[in-house]
Amino acid sequence: MQNRVDQILDGNLYASIELAVDYLRNDLLIGLPTETVYGLAALASHPKAIVKIFQVKARPTNHPLILHIADYQQLEKWAKNIPLYAENMCKHFWPGPLTVILMRSKNVCDEITGGRETVAIRIPNHKVALSLLNSLNDGLVAPSANRFGKVSPTCAKHVVDDLGDEVSLVLDGGACEIGVESTIIDCTSNRPQILRSGGISISEIEEIGKIEIAYSDGDSRAPGMLEKHYAPNCRVELVDSLQQAMHRLNEISAQGLAVEIMDFQDDLKLYAHQLYARLRQADERSIHTVLAVMPGRGGLGDAIRDRLTKAAASNQPI
Ligand code: TXA
Ligand code: MG
Repeated sequence: MQNRVDQILDGNLYASIELAVDYLRNDLLIGLPTETVYGLAALASHPKAIVKIFQVKARPTNHPLILHIADYQQLEKWAKNIPLYAENMCKHFWPGPLTVILMRSKNVCDEITGGRETVAIRIPNHKVALSLLNSLNDGLVAPSANRFGKVSPTCAKHVVDDLGDEVSLVLDGGACEIGVESTIIDCTSNRPQILRSGGISISEIEEIGKIEIAYSDGDSRAPGMLEKHYAPNCRVELVDSLQQAMHRLNEISAQGLAVEIMDFQDDLKLYAHQLYARLRQADERSIHTVLAVMPGRGGLGDAIRDRLTKAAASNQPI
């Protein structure tokens, strides 16, 4: 697909932010860079535009959206009954890749939450996202800017590759620094629960919140936690070591199939940063199977393992 020349704009320019504000106020959707992945954004107070997000992504309406805000002071506008441990976590990690689930205030419309009484909120740590948020007297709801179930975008071009003209403009803020989505913590009860591993590790959050985090039990309350998600077109096969990957590489290529290895040793930051872009490149090159060497557990390793496991969930054995 040919990108329209005026569709991707330098997000660092004031004129681009101004145009984005204008588009948003007219219910158009824009691509938003964050430190995790690019989002497909609409104004939190514009239900008509929020409905469009679900249509464009082909996302079921019971998969609620994350509300992005400009600063901590705005939290009380959108959420109520905030536990002290959640306050501590947000004050410490925001702006950053921590999303908290809280009881929603009356300012949050049903379209954002799919009618739930809770809302997911975070402050993104990205200059362009923050300058846009600071130009609005509103929040931005933004899921990852990909079609439902597919790989999240980590640069402006990925957004246009996926969504074409259905995104009116993309603010280019470069490649996302972290590369995997935010960590989601449900803070609606006395004991926080992790719903999605992501950019911040559980142990870091536990230390700051001075509270132990429970693991969500199987049938998670974050509907995005489907078993199959983050899926490229290619087959993703999980292996535990480079040695095992080499062995499978020989077996699979002997069948005449295009196969490659994804391995970043134990450089978790690089792995997360490259993960989605590498899967997209494999699709562009019609690779049949990516042999993904699983990183160790802990920190970003948990998020990478989670995404890879879901990407591999529909594998047919070969
Ligand atoms: O890093 C990120 O979080 C990115 C950037 C753009 O901020 N956003 C993102 O959004 O990953 P999305 O829509 O792809 O994932 C949001 C997840 C979904 O799994 C959704 O089910 C969950 O958040 N979620 C949202 N509101 C919720 C709520 N009220 N209760 C439980 N889960 C919720
Ligand atoms: Mg997503």
